[in-house]
Amino acid sequence: MKLIDGKSIAENVHNETKGRIAALSERGFRPGLAVILVGDDPASRAYVRSKDKRAAELGLHSVKHELPATASQDELVALVQSLNADPLVHGILVQSPPPPHIDEAAVVQAIDPRKDVDGFHPVNVAKLALDDPTGFVPCTPLGCLRLLAESGIPTAGANAVIVGRSMIVGKPMALLLMRRGQGGDATVTIAHSRSKDLTAITRRADIVIAAIGRPHFLGVDHISEGAVVIDVGINRVDAPGTPRGHRLVGDVDFDAVAERCAAITPVPGGVGPMTIAMLMSNTVTACERLANT
Ligand code: GUN
Repeated sequence: MKLIDGKSIAENVHNETKGRIAALSERGFRPGLAVILVGDDPASRAYVRSKDKRAAELGLHSVKHELPATASQDELVALVQSLNADPLVHGILVQSPPPPHIDEAAVVQAIDPRKDVDGFHPVNVAKLALDDPTGFVPCTPLGCLRLLAESGIPTAGANAVIVGRSMIVGKPMALLLMRRGQGGDATVTIAHSRSKDLTAITRRADIVIAAIGRPHFLGVDHISEGAVVIDVGINRVDAPGTPRGHRLVGDVDFDAVAERCAAITPVPGGVGPMTIAMLMSNTVTACERLANT
């Protein structure tokens, strides 16, 4: 079994990104990223902190807006609009999920699609579906694709089964894997929590992408000998007696599945670092596009 080291592959991406930032700097441009967090969900807070920290390390202009859970829809949209107009900001990200009183779709639609480095705006969703390379692709599926590519795992003709149908991971992942050409050409199946006989579906997979958000949802019975497993899940489970009182586990029962599969990503240290790496890359892309207009 090969362990797919997301931390080290993410460092490769960051090194490329550094080179692109240096080239922009010579032309007088500095990419900027604004991250908005509404409320105090501890997991979201941790993600936002990691994004902000990495952006600063790379030398991006980085701004973090933390709004209370009581912030109104209007306040949030007004903040997005001010960032749309801010020439120092090339990428805007609103951490998902926001509190329940916020209409997330409306907030995402308020983001200038040219600054939507998450790739969640309808314009960017459409561009991905239309194979138009001028949009932005969501960071987590983009990171999964890169993990496969750098690990030398062929996708052409492979049976790829995605478990999970979210807008953030499952749907864009399917579109990417079914694209023509490098990193695509897979036969894609999307399964989800309501799928009948999930075990039979995932057992046919050469590549399983687990993105359902349930701890250890996929076990050894779901995975065929020699399959490749990409575990997108980051689930907090209670771990009494540990310093934090919780630990992170994936959607896959790693210890059991590792015995049978050809390659697998760990949690943490698999897909998570890739999401951040692709976010930084998308932000630099946003700045490059502006610089080249
Ligand atoms: N929540 C979980 N993943 C993501 C992501 O990639 N972007 C945003 N904005 N929120 C998320």
